[in-house]
Amino acid sequence: MQTRLSNRTQLIQEAAMATMGNLSRKLKAQGADIVTLSLGEPDFNTPDFIKQAAHNAIDQNFSHYSPLPGFADLRQAIAHKLQRDNNLIYKPEQIIVSTGAKQSIMNALFALLNDGDEVLLPAPYWASYYDMILLAGGIPRVINTTIEDGFKITEKHLETSISDKTKLLIFNSPNNPSGAFYSKDEVKQIAAFLKNHPSIFILSDDVYEFFVYKNEKPLSMAKFPELFERTILINGISKSFAMTGWRLGYMAAHQDIARACDIIQGQITSGANSITQRAALVAIEKEPQDIPEIAYMRNEFRKRRDFVFSYLQKLPKIKTILPEGAFYIFPDISGFFGKKFQNQTINNSFDFAILLLNEAHVSTTPGVAFGVDNCLRLSYANSLPELEKAMNRLSAFVEKLT
Ligand SMILES: Cc1ncc(COP(=O)(O)O)c(C=O)c1O
Repeated sequence: MQTRLSNRTQLIQEAAMATMGNLSRKLKAQGADIVTLSLGEPDFNTPDFIKQAAHNAIDQNFSHYSPLPGFADLRQAIAHKLQRDNNLIYKPEQIIVSTGAKQSIMNALFALLNDGDEVLLPAPYWASYYDMILLAGGIPRVINTTIEDGFKITEKHLETSISDKTKLLIFNSPNNPSGAFYSKDEVKQIAAFLKNHPSIFILSDDVYEFFVYKNEKPLSMAKFPELFERTILINGISKSFAMTGWRLGYMAAHQDIARACDIIQGQITSGANSITQRAALVAIEKEPQDIPEIAYMRNEFRKRRDFVFSYLQKLPKIKTILPEGAFYIFPDISGFFGKKFQNQTINNSFDFAILLLNEAHVSTTPGVAFGVDNCLRLSYANSLPELEKAMNRLSAFVEKLT
C-alpha cells in the first residue's frame, strides 16, 4: 500500500531523543549498564498525600467525563494558586485544564496561529515547541543565543528577529535544556520591549517554576499590566509534584483565548483525566512550603547540579555555565568537534552523544535537538552515585578522543 501521509505530518520528525532512547534500550537489552542523563522528569515519586487523593477519587467513582475545561473546584484552586504564588489575578473561567502542559501549549498555538504566522523561539528551546509551531501552521523564528549570553535573550535579540508577521514569543524560564533563569531585571527589559509591540503575544511556560536555585522568585510576563491580556501562562504538575505520567497541565489566559482552547480540546481529548484532576486539586491547593517533598527535590537537585557543574568545569575543552533552574545542564562540547574516537570522527552533538552512549554507556541528549548543536543536555534527575559514575565515564571517554 502506498502510504499517503498528510503534508502536515511530513513537517515534523521523530525527535533525536527518540533515536537516543531506542539505542539506549537496545544496549540495555544486551546487558549494558547504561547511566541515564536524558530524563526530562524528576526521578522522585509522587508525594503520598497526592496519591491518596487519587485512591479516594477512584473509590468515589470519579470515573466519568469531567467538564471540558476541568472541574470547577480545580480551576478555582489554580486561580487561587496563581494569586498566592505568582501574585496574578485570574478568574476560574480563564483557566483551562488539559492533558499535560504539552496539550495546553498545543491548544494555545492552535488558538492563536494562522498559516505563516511567525513565532519567536529563543534557542536553546524545548524540542517540542519547534514541531508544535509547525503543526499549527506557524513558522518558528529561532533566536540564537550563546553560552556567553547565558543562553538568554535580550531586547536586542528581539529587535533583530521581529517582522510584521510576528505573532508570538515563547518564553521559558527556568529553561529546558539550559537551566537558564531570567532575573527580574532581565524580564523587565524584555517586557519593556514587548510593551512597545502590542501585536505580539507571549506564551510563558513556567513548568519549572519550583526549581530555582537562587533566592529569587520567577517574575511572570503576565505581571505587567500592558502584557497581561497578551500572555498565555502555562504550568502543570508534571515537574513540580513529580507527576509526569499523570498527565495534567493548565493554561491561564484572556477569556477569548481560554474559550478557544476549551473548544479545541473539546474536539480532541475532552477534559483531562478525572482521577488526576482530583489528585492535582490537593497538590495545588496546598501551599508549596507545606509540601516537604518539594523542598526535598529542590535541595537534591541543587546538590546534584553543584556536583555535575564542578566536575564538568575540570574537564578540558568543555565550557559550561551554572544553571540556575530546572534540572538540566547544557555544556558546550564543540571543542571536541573534529576529534576522533578510534576511527570515528565527531562532527556534531549527535555524533558525540551516540559515541558517548555506545562507548561509555552514558545516555544524554544532543544539543541539536534543542537548536544548539554545540552543546549536550545532561539531566541531573538521577542519584549522586549514578551522576558520579556518569561523570567518570564522560571524563574517561573524552580522554580517549584524539
Ligand atoms: C519546557 C517544558 N514545557 C512543557 C513540558 C511538558 O510538560 P507536561 O508533562 O505537563 O506535558 C515539558 C516537559 O518536558 C517541558 O520541559
